[in-house]
Amino acid sequence: MSEPAGELRRIALPPDEAGRPREALLVLAPDAPPRAYLNRCPHLDVPLDAGSPGFAPRRGELICHTHGARFRVLDGYCTWGPCQGDALLPVEVARDADGLWLVFEGARLQVD
Ligand code: FES
Repeated sequence: MSEPAGELRRIALPPDEAGRPREALLVLAPDAPPRAYLNRCPHLDVPLDAGSPGFAPRRGELICHTHGARFRVLDGYCTWGPCQGDALLPVEVARDADGLWLVFEGARLQVD
């Protein structure tokens, strides 16, 4: 198995209209801008990480823990698997003098 290609952090997002919790997966890689995506697989709308504590990017990809679909960290595009050609929902990442932020549906969440 390949080595992890960056740190992954889970960030709680505001709940959806039905009150269900949501979460972003934030990837912090040494030589790339930070990227974040909603932790939902477009194949079956389940958490991409399936709650696995060891979930991490590998060789620039996030790999769905349920059926193995592969998503580029760069843009969330699915390059292989049952949802090939689809993409993860991006969450905006912003940095300013106060730190790193996620911007999602009007909410601004400080990461660090
Ligand atoms: S649920 Fe992610 S590939 Fe099937």
